[in-house]
Amino acid sequence: MALLPIVKFPDPFLRQPTSDVTDFDDALRRFAEDMTETMYASKGAGLAANQVGVAKRMFIVEAAAAGLAENDPPVVFINPVFLWLSDEKETTDEGCLSFPNVFVPIKRSLRARVRAQDAHGNEFVAEGEGLYARAMQHEHDHLINKLLIDYVGPIKRKLIKRKLEREAEADAAEAAADAE
Ligand code: NI
Repeated sequence: MALLPIVKFPDPFLRQPTSDVTDFDDALRRFAEDMTETMYASKGAGLAANQVGVAKRMFIVEAAAAGLAENDPPVVFINPVFLWLSDEKETTDEGCLSFPNVFVPIKRSLRARVRAQDAHGNEFVAEGEGLYARAMQHEHDHLINKLLIDYVGPIKRKLIKRKLEREAEADAAEAAADAE
């Protein structure tokens, strides 16, 4: 397994369209394991493939968030489609590994039902509420290039953008200094 670098806003890759996964092979399963390791290392509740540089329709949700035992592997969603979203909604602060230390209140459906394929290509239907439903909606947003910052007003958007641009510049300067 390997840790993958996380793509952070404002990297334009997060806005690049994603495509369906078509090959359910060993490389895909290795990639799912690398995503898992990367998510755990960053203490995220979920991670989308395009957050680690792969523009494919795939995301994972951490086991506890998915209502499983803490030591279970995460749920891998490939080519996910929403079958149903509840009309009942809830607003909660949300974070994202591509937006370090940024939290935004987002109103989302309280319950969700998703059809997807697992890493072997088998179809399954997942239904969740609360954190699980929220995580599925958040990660699916990544696949349609929708980001935390799209949920805030223009003033907060500018503040978040400035903060993350500064951090990206600092990271780049640090990388350049390391390379010397
Ligand atoms: Ni995210």
